[in-house]
Amino acid sequence: MEGRVALSDPEDAVAASSLARGDERDKDIERVLISEREIQDKLRELGEQITRDYAGRELLLIGVLKGAFVLMADLSRHIRLPVEVDFMAVASYGAATKTSGVVRILKDLDHDLEGRDVLLVEDIIDSGLTLNYLLKNLRGRRPASLEVCALLKKTGIQRVHLDVKYVGFEIPPDFVVGYGLDFAENFRNLPYVGLLRPEAYREA
Ligand code: IMP
Ligand code: MG
Repeated sequence: MEGRVALSDPEDAVAASSLARGDERDKDIERVLISEREIQDKLRELGEQITRDYAGRELLLIGVLKGAFVLMADLSRHIRLPVEVDFMAVASYGAATKTSGVVRILKDLDHDLEGRDVLLVEDIIDSGLTLNYLLKNLRGRRPASLEVCALLKKTGIQRVHLDVKYVGFEIPPDFVVGYGLDFAENFRNLPYVGLLRPEAYREA
């Protein structure tokens, strides 16, 4: 289920060549870590698995804004079941790249979770502190079930133990952008996940 990033995938070369063609969005990207194609293939797989696991149930997808908005849109369309969606906005980072450990709820859910089958959709698990906080908070609302789907999980740096049922890719503990993930609110609209040029941090 958990995919390692295949850096030698030929699709990376295709994605990387689009960097050379001078897409304005790509100018601060040093390297494509996970290509658009690899992401979409993985989401199809996860969607099929979720479809099987929740067959006959009424699933509520909860996206964590802002990072999960792209994943939510793509993943939900690979789930061949009736689903409802809701969003929560939390802040755990400012413009910086280090976790604060402090999570603030900026926008709460519209749905009541009691008795619902809930799948929390997250962009990335870094320290795990955000997710840990959210899971505790959501469990208190007494859902029938609560699982997590994260596109990315940084290897070996979680500060808390977390059970994440669906993980797209395990990646090295570097700062990444794209596919919903930002640096200083930029790069969320990249269709791939990439590494920033070191200069991009200094210029910010
Ligand atoms: P955690 O609490 O350290 O697990 O961080 C979770 C949140 O921090 C994520 O939902 C992201 O919004 C943000 N974050 C963590 N790592 C990265 C990264 O590499 N790039 C962009 N945002 C990140
Ligand atoms: Mg952010």
